[in-house]
Amino acid sequence: MPADLSPIDKAKFAAARRAVDHVQDGMRLGLGTGSTAAWMVRCLARRVHEEGLRVTGVPTSARTAELARELGIPVVGLDEAKWLDLTIDGADEFDPQLTLIKGGGAALLQEKIVATASDQMIVITDAAKAVAQLGAFPLPVEVVPFGWQTTKALIEETLVSMDVLGRDTSVRMNGAHPLVTDEGNYIIDLHLRRIGNPRQLALVMNQIPGVVETGLFIDICDMVIIGHGDGRLEIRDVNQGTVEHDHIDFAEDRNIFADLGE
Ligand code: A5P
Repeated sequence: MPADLSPIDKAKFAAARRAVDHVQDGMRLGLGTGSTAAWMVRCLARRVHEEGLRVTGVPTSARTAELARELGIPVVGLDEAKWLDLTIDGADEFDPQLTLIKGGGAALLQEKIVATASDQMIVITDAAKAVAQLGAFPLPVEVVPFGWQTTKALIEETLVSMDVLGRDTSVRMNGAHPLVTDEGNYIIDLHLRRIGNPRQLALVMNQIPGVVETGLFIDICDMVIIGHGDGRLEIRDVNQGTVEHDHIDFAEDRNIFADLGE
């Protein structure tokens, strides 16, 4: 492993590397999006090449699809796979119930559809994303472009009666124009600072015409694997109610970058 990898990247790598231990031969897998999920795709590719592991990947974004194909992981669309054994993805925040905020990478819609169509979802993360209460990370809400400013105004109006601390919203930009998601929509980021009742907020937001989906993942994540920069791991299983501790030795992984052309 290169010495110049930051502690956060080492933490993300550690979580990703541990998560692919859950992959078994023949599995249909949801492949998440983001920098942590990209480590997972690399670690998975290594198992595919070294162990002859047979898997089918369903990517949650165009960029994950490209990376998986480049590294030789067979990919199909969700409708071809139909139902998945496991999805492994990153998150922007998670609370003690493993409710998540996702969508920092603008892929929340495909990520939620894919994770919901999976028997199990494992989230891989560094420790900085653990919070007692969600909301410091702006909550992404995907909206259709038609009338998006009206939808944004309606969201703001609705937030007045919600249990949140902040009510500012902003459309996510890509240079001079709103960022366009893989599904052709826009993202409104809600700067809520604290979300008192994520379930109520998600239900109410989903009633607003023009809102496609929120980045709140409720009762979807089964397990979170938290990596640390020194290789320590904490594994929280919400169904079993267990917390395990583990460790990975980076020395065993020094070839992954060279092997995969990094
Ligand atoms: C993508 O839309 C997001 O949901 C990501 O999973 C999330 O932003 C985590 O990204 P990183 O792994 O890059 O922190």
